[in-house]
Amino acid sequence: METLQIFDLSYDGSGVAKKDGKVVFVPKTLPGEVVEAEIVKEYASFSLADCKKVLQASIMRKPAQCPHFSVCGGCDFQHCGYAEEQQFKTNNIAKEFSKVGYNGKINFVQSPNRFFYRNKIKLEIQNGKVGYNKAKTHEFFEVKTCPIANEKVQKALEIVKKFVASKAVEGAKSCYIKNVGEDIAICFLFPKNAKNHVKNVKNLQIFGDFSVFFAFGEVLESDSTKVECVHGKDVLQQKFDGFVASFQPQAFNQVNDAVAAFLYEHILKFAKNKNVVNAYAGQGLLTYMLSKSAKFVYGIEMQKSAHLAAQQFVAKNIKHICGKVEEKLPLISDANLVVLDPAREGCKASVLGSIIEKEIPEIVYVSCNFSTLVRDLKTLLKFYDIQDVTVFDMFPCTAGLETCVKLIKK
Ligand SMILES: C[S@@+](CC[C@H](N)C(=O)[O-])C[C@H]1O[C@@H](n2cnc3c(N)ncnc32)[C@H](O)[C@@H]1O
Repeated sequence: METLQIFDLSYDGSGVAKKDGKVVFVPKTLPGEVVEAEIVKEYASFSLADCKKVLQASIMRKPAQCPHFSVCGGCDFQHCGYAEEQQFKTNNIAKEFSKVGYNGKINFVQSPNRFFYRNKIKLEIQNGKVGYNKAKTHEFFEVKTCPIANEKVQKALEIVKKFVASKAVEGAKSCYIKNVGEDIAICFLFPKNAKNHVKNVKNLQIFGDFSVFFAFGEVLESDSTKVECVHGKDVLQQKFDGFVASFQPQAFNQVNDAVAAFLYEHILKFAKNKNVVNAYAGQGLLTYMLSKSAKFVYGIEMQKSAHLAAQQFVAKNIKHICGKVEEKLPLISDANLVVLDPAREGCKASVLGSIIEKEIPEIVYVSCNFSTLVRDLKTLLKFYDIQDVTVFDMFPCTAGLETCVKLIKK
């Protein structure tokens, strides 16, 4: 056991200490604290430690709302108030942007709710129990409650716990609970080859109005995963602009509805009368919103179920394209704004190359991953200047942020 003095916070929200000159990251601690911690992993340039006891607490320290906070890998910040959490995040993002030479203003948009905001959770299933993985490990622990999930998701979690405990369904590796509008989908994920073994599932009526899906594959989001509805409605429905749109459970949606609305509103400001490419378009909601003020919008999305959902959003000035951005973007010749909202991996070099080569005058880059954002900005900033940086606190209680960078051609 080591006694460590925490002097900083890392980009992922861990406290930073030093032992014999080597950096030690201690999750769930705060600057100024002295803690007793056990080194759990040693790497060449740093170590990872588990905080066992806070010997000298920071004045910022508060009791966590969640009983699982000390072990759970989901949240990084529940041991301080929301104002302090926001301050840590603002400092971190400023450090990241200084790496690309940007020291200008960073706007911060907070979440209306620090708790009860997530419309989607993924649970692991083991031996008739549902849980999450512990921080920095793949070790399972049983979940009693998850206070960052919204009320509808929490209600579904209670039923899922009972269903899994009754052993009515066996062989499922994980379970996704997703809320869209008033609807809830519960999706059990089985190994690809388990299809013929999952028969005669009892007790599905326990889910009442909720829809239940069985999916067979590696991850729910993959087009090669087969998803079938076994109880209730086979789509999630939500009202937009006077019509009801239907979504399949495997397509991407932003996890914090209120903050997603702020993010979309912000992006719309840049689209007036432009020919916009909405790259990595997901289920097309942003494409549709952009079409209200843009001259024309191309939405590019490779996942088939998301593209199918996007096709419900019909307007004269929208074209939904199913395919990879790296293949479809080079075929568009009249764009003067491209919105990029890639997955954590960021953009392929060829996508950035195509934007630069076409001399597209403006870019809005939305990212949930600082490291790939910084990597891609390093390429773009040779040809573009940063005009605006706004961060959206899409994931309160975690170190994650949704960052939106507006770029303009030099
Ligand atoms: C972070 S989500 C953004 C979705 C959308 N902008 C929204 O707000 O809902 C990224 C999306 O990009 C899609 N995607 C990932 N790689 C892609 C690629 N190479 N080409 C096209 N779409 C891709 C994913 O299927 C996912 O729907």
